[in-house]
Amino acid sequence: MLQRLDKILVSQGKGSRSEVQRLIRRGCVTADGAVLRDPAAKVDPDQTALALNGRPLTYAEHLYIMMNKPAGLLCVSRDPKQPTVLDKLPPSLQRPGLFPAGRLDKDTVGFTLITDDGDFAHRLLAPRRHVPKTYQAVIDAPLQEGQPEAFTKGLLLEDGTPCLPAKLRLLQPGEHPLVEVCITEGKYHQIKRMFGVFGHKVLWLKRTAMGGLWLDDTLAEGEARALSPEELACIWK
Ligand code: URA
Repeated sequence: MLQRLDKILVSQGKGSRSEVQRLIRRGCVTADGAVLRDPAAKVDPDQTALALNGRPLTYAEHLYIMMNKPAGLLCVSRDPKQPTVLDKLPPSLQRPGLFPAGRLDKDTVGFTLITDDGDFAHRLLAPRRHVPKTYQAVIDAPLQEGQPEAFTKGLLLEDGTPCLPAKLRLLQPGEHPLVEVCITEGKYHQIKRMFGVFGHKVLWLKRTAMGGLWLDDTLAEGEARALSPEELACIWK
């Protein structure tokens, strides 16, 4: 599809509209080897070999980012008062239209998927698709007899809301055990409320996987990177 050259560069995170217009006017951008100095020139990025400062510009219609969310950031696009996951992205990953696909609480850490692909996010979060989300949690007291079985059967939350069957597994016993929980839906504060049924408080919560895609454990909290198409496909496995 034909698009304005400046719009293409902005969409690929190469700067703001005025910054990329300056680059184009300076002759930094080529299309099939020829310098294009008009920011309004129409180009089909799928059919044209674009380069910026001599480096090939690989065009991707959408961007999919894995962030290891730290505590303290809101999982929304923008907030007038508090920092959000988008504020934390490095400039190289900024582009218009990004939003977090699904919400983690402010104090929850771990895998947050950020994208500008609304259809993809819809598929990921659609309740009928039941894409599993895996979490690790530290809780304030040992698991109770029969608790994993109750998770497997499907809990009734304290307000009467029914949950789909979930998996609960003890990873590390102790006074404050570390557990793994896998749910296939995303109700508000779901994990905290599921433990609330047993009088447990969740002291720490981290999302470790979405579908078959696991959080890259080389990403420190607060770091983010683009996902490859192969990684993205793992979500559906
Ligand atoms: N469940 C919760 O309670 N909080 C989250 O952030 C995610 C799942």
